[in-house]
Amino acid sequence: MNKSLIKAHTSKAVREAVFAYKSKNKTIALVPTMGALHAGHISLIEVAKQHADRVICSIFVNPKQFGKNEDLESYPSTLQADCEALEQAGVDLVFIPTVQEMYPKGFQTCVSVAEISTYLCGHSRPGHFDGVTTVVSKLLLIVQPDTAIFGAKDFQQLLVIKQMVQDLNIPTNIISAPTQRAKDGLALSSRNQYLSPQDRKRAPLIYQTLQSTAQTLREGSPLDQALKNAAKALTKNGFVIDYIEARDATNLKPITGPLYQKGETPPQSAQLLCAVKLGQTRLIDNIPI
Ligand code: PAJ
Repeated sequence: MNKSLIKAHTSKAVREAVFAYKSKNKTIALVPTMGALHAGHISLIEVAKQHADRVICSIFVNPKQFGKNEDLESYPSTLQADCEALEQAGVDLVFIPTVQEMYPKGFQTCVSVAEISTYLCGHSRPGHFDGVTTVVSKLLLIVQPDTAIFGAKDFQQLLVIKQMVQDLNIPTNIISAPTQRAKDGLALSSRNQYLSPQDRKRAPLIYQTLQSTAQTLREGSPLDQALKNAAKALTKNGFVIDYIEARDATNLKPITGPLYQKGETPPQSAQLLCAVKLGQTRLIDNIPI
């Protein structure tokens, strides 16, 4: 029998539940989401259960992290199915605030992580990470979890949040969970359902290209050439490239100097990251090199 899932719509209700958990010395893990849950989200719940006695999940489509011409209005919502999946997964409480609850009239604060938020997705989606860090800091302050789990699928988001938590002395341990993929390699995403059947068939090329590019880099190919070839292969197949880049895996700074020289260990840990558009759908993915 699964225990029943508590649904909270206000920060006050969450605080009361958290107070009750803490007074029984229970540890708490938080899994923030925007809903339209898939197996990638559920894998974070599984990680959360390994780290804490109680698991709280939030579902909030955060308007502050969407740009003017982005998909806020059409973002998928499957709330009832989400709650069933969370109950099935053993989540104790789901926090489903309204926009008014999170950003009441007169709200004025923005939490902004400077440098790392401006790279890559931050460059093409100005203000996006400020929206993410503002909402995540609010969620961390409302729930005050011991641990919070984020997916490596959104690699830059993960590092931005780690930076914020470090800079602001937020007493939550940030844990990353590996990217979950469909059988054909496409990283699971709530946005995959926007893809036309034809584009869905093409989409696994993103992961295939990342893998083959990482392999040629490990074999000693020059970075510039390998990235050019990767962009070419994707463009030829109808993808519009936002970026495909190799970056320092700890801080996303550009990589300078040789990555791999055959037979040698690399001088720094590196991550290959890309963002592409297929039709109207923007997809991101990344792998270690
Ligand atoms: P959302 O896209 O719903 O993702 C919620 C969490 O699930 C994030 O930590 C994300 O990295 C993780 N996730 C998504 N797809 C995954 C996959 N295929 N494998 C593993 N983890 C995956 O990311 C957000 O929401 C928002 O920006 C949020 C952090 C909730 C702030 O609004």
